[in-house]
Amino acid sequence: MREIIIAGNWKMNGTVAETEKLLKELLAGKSKKRGVTVVVCPSFTSLHAAHKILKGSHIALGAQDMSAHQKGAFTSEVSASMLLTVGARYVILGHSEKRQYHAETDELVNAKTRLAFASGLTPIVCVGETLDQRESGQTNDVVGTQINGTLAGFTGEQLEKAVIAYEPVWAIGTGKTATPEMAQEVHKFIRDRVGQVDREAAHSLPILYGGSVKADNAEGLLKQPDIDGALVGGASLKADDFIAIINAA
Ligand code: 13P
Repeated sequence: MREIIIAGNWKMNGTVAETEKLLKELLAGKSKKRGVTVVVCPSFTSLHAAHKILKGSHIALGAQDMSAHQKGAFTSEVSASMLLTVGARYVILGHSEKRQYHAETDELVNAKTRLAFASGLTPIVCVGETLDQRESGQTNDVVGTQINGTLAGFTGEQLEKAVIAYEPVWAIGTGKTATPEMAQEVHKFIRDRVGQVDREAAHSLPILYGGSVKADNAEGLLKQPDIDGALVGGASLKADDFIAIINAA
């Protein structure tokens, strides 16, 4: 059995007070489900406060990005060791919004992933095609290139500690979700691609789906054999909605 992960990417939402409120609502509600790992990824500024609330609970903490460098003159960047000190265990890397607005490349995501492994953080490496790419039949080429590039040079042992999120760019924040069949096809493709490097790692690798996951479509997606969880944006900002997704898992 593969690990099932429901992760909330809160993006640039939530002051410290708002984050604390949402976390308290999640802890007070039915957000604990046997066999499901729940992760929340608030903004950098809320991580420390979030850690204080989540310590000892069933909800794990993640960050939305980190630097490819260990320390030094990299104004505005946040290092892996800084994340560890505020209790983060996961880190989202290569989100399409970072690729799109900050020109992140597969090489950079690969360097960050390498550092995450070295630091003991679990990377959630994001891949996904744009609408143009899907409509011109390039989905597998694009996703395959992203997988090869972001995971280049890692051993099976390292890959066993990774999480991948397939997030079709056209489904993020648009209300358009990939059908369960469309998502399953790409998830299977990703697993096969990782399997070319290491079959065991591919078998145990959690591959999350992201892109307009809501309470009412989560079950259909999560039923697919190669969909092992969800990376949820908008719907993770409301405790009831996020809890419903956790319970659909
Ligand atoms: P939405 O769920 O808001 O579409 O966002 C998905 C996402 O980008 C998660 O990382």
